[in-house]
Amino acid sequence: MTTTSILGASETELRRDRTSVKWLAYPSDVLPLWVAEMDCDPCPAVADAVASAVSRGDTGYGWAPLYAAEVARYAGATWGWDVDPSAMLVVTDVMIGASEVLRMLTDERGAVVVSPPVYDSFFGFVDAIGRRRVDAPLGADGRLDPEALRTAFREATAGGGRVGYLLCNPQNPTGVTHSPDELATLAALAREFGVRVVADEIHAPLVHDGGPAFTPYLTVPGAEDAFAVFSPSKGWNLAGLKSAVVVAGPQARAELARLPEVHTHGSSHLGEIAHVAAMRDGLDWHARLRTELTANRDLVGRLLAQHLPDIRWTAPEATYLGWLDCRALDLGDDPATAFRERGRVALGSGPRYGAQAGRGFVRLNFATSPAILEEAVRRMATVVG
Ligand SMILES: Cc1ncc(COP(=O)(O)O)c(C=O)c1O
Repeated sequence: MTTTSILGASETELRRDRTSVKWLAYPSDVLPLWVAEMDCDPCPAVADAVASAVSRGDTGYGWAPLYAAEVARYAGATWGWDVDPSAMLVVTDVMIGASEVLRMLTDERGAVVVSPPVYDSFFGFVDAIGRRRVDAPLGADGRLDPEALRTAFREATAGGGRVGYLLCNPQNPTGVTHSPDELATLAALAREFGVRVVADEIHAPLVHDGGPAFTPYLTVPGAEDAFAVFSPSKGWNLAGLKSAVVVAGPQARAELARLPEVHTHGSSHLGEIAHVAAMRDGLDWHARLRTELTANRDLVGRLLAQHLPDIRWTAPEATYLGWLDCRALDLGDDPATAFRERGRVALGSGPRYGAQAGRGFVRLNFATSPAILEEAVRRMATVVG
């Protein structure tokens, strides 16, 4: 079936020809709505640029200044964020960039503070750099909680070590687009306790139209000593084509220079080519994609109301991820197990995003066709009914 929709129109369009983790981790009768990959057709500008590079044999090392300049141009045009490419270091990907900055900013007596529920790899990377983790859970509304931040910053800094805070802006999995006021409150608290903020902004291109705009953390007053890490990889579904930038705030430029230049070597030349094409020539495609994602988000709301009214959720302001509160369903701490084993739908397991904060939750990836969403929710309902 031919379709003009980017995310596909029918269930028969399951992307079983793909070999990424989304498609291979579970048996083929399980609908995969878990990991943050999209079932979208490729952005033509990106596919052309990568195919052309491969066919020309343009498969050597990348030239980082080109990539940094394109990110700066995109950030200015998209968010009005005036950022100098010389304040950037091109790195392998967002998590390597964020964790290397945190390694530099913190020490073994210090800690890294995170706000669960949050992207599960935050926990793994804090462990990987050998730092203690302190949690400042989000509030019940899925948003930053100033009191929890204050308590966590106090505890993390009590031993006198150097402390970082890893912000998820927008937040995976709650889909919250942090407001300028919330970010300014965070910046003030971080200054008060001497905590250094690193903002992971990978989901920034995925803010839904009609909701609050994305605020780059480094544009917030008080955040001048922070770092941000960005890649268009999530927005254009290019996780397998890796590259990203670390951006230093004006008061962090000297520290940026201390990050070893060799980190740039991890960035893939084909990744840079893909990302540059996305940010330069893939904007119309991206606008259409976001329209489809917003329609899917609204469809999920209707389907849940109809088939699973006891699940509570707040439609996300950003991301293609729904954070579903299943605590009323009596499916235990990790309802994803029942949905997968009995309903044959793979969802993100809530406790992975925070042992306490994710208990009784699942994360549903709605970047797929409306037909697959309908089938998935119908299957989920059979587990409950
Ligand atoms: C918040 C967040 N940061 C980082 C990543 C991974 O990015 P990368 O592959 O560039 O490390 C993800 C992937 O889903 C994510 O949700």
